[in-house]
Amino acid sequence: MPARDKSHRPSSEQSSRLAGNAQPNRPSSSGRPRAPKPSRAKSPEEIFLEKAAQIAEPWDENFTKFKHPLVLQGATYQPQMLFDVTPYPADPDSTPEANLVRSPNNEFAYMNRVWKRGQAIPLLQNRREGLVYWDQDVVIPVLLDGRTLAVWMSLTPMEVLTLREGISLAKGTVVIGGLGMGYLLRKVCEKPNVHRVIVVEQSRELLNWFGDRICAEQPKVTDVICGNAYEQLGKFDSETRYLFDIWPMYEDAAADPEFQAAKRKHPHVWGWGDYHLA
Ligand SMILES: C[S@@+](CC[C@H](N)C(=O)[O-])C[C@H]1O[C@@H](n2cnc3c(N)ncnc32)[C@H](O)[C@@H]1O
Repeated sequence: MPARDKSHRPSSEQSSRLAGNAQPNRPSSSGRPRAPKPSRAKSPEEIFLEKAAQIAEPWDENFTKFKHPLVLQGATYQPQMLFDVTPYPADPDSTPEANLVRSPNNEFAYMNRVWKRGQAIPLLQNRREGLVYWDQDVVIPVLLDGRTLAVWMSLTPMEVLTLREGISLAKGTVVIGGLGMGYLLRKVCEKPNVHRVIVVEQSRELLNWFGDRICAEQPKVTDVICGNAYEQLGKFDSETRYLFDIWPMYEDAAADPEFQAAKRKHPHVWGWGDYHLA
């Protein structure tokens, strides 16, 4: 199953697709053919970067659509960081301690991860699979399991695209199951037709660490409950929307019997990655 944060190197096929429209050598302005230059073959990275500079598009967290490959202008990709820690350009499990922020009892860790220009990461949305690249280095906040350093949440374009469906369903009273880094919370609270938000997060440590603080920044949040999101189903009025993002892997919701049973029993329940049964 696809993880929330996994790097891919561009394959030669992907690189050559990006390089497919490279301009041939043109005549000089005098009309005479240019003298042939001593040729040095361009590296795949140079070809990629030349092409990326031509096709990179600005990122908009509300409107950028799925595309493969999606090449983004790095300067426009600026997710909010939770902690000011020096960014590190590699997988979490090889990250030095100095580049991690750990929660008080090590239940969670946090890093600002550098994705290098031209480095590809998966872009998933429902059944569509692609890759996303940037034309310059970008820094992306990542929430990790403190013991295994497995990724809980990483604010990549995949996360943003796959949470949009839940955000679009939010209205009136909304229960958010799983706070994580609070991106879903922020986007739900931004909607004018959302009046009240209840946050349910199972980890007391995450709430003490930064969760209570980011919930307090949202005036629509009336309750922050430390507990199991499933236990809040049906406790609010029948029009309440329940948006659950409590899984580390995309599609986990679709294979989670407790979630599928909850959906059958209660109206207006949405789960991240539950696309094939939607
Ligand atoms: C992937 S993160 C959520 C990311 C979040 N959507 C965001 O925008 O940052 C999952 C969160 O769900 C919490 N969680 C896991 N199981 C839960 C449950 N049964 N009830 C409430 N919270 C849960 C985890 O502690 C974690 O904070």
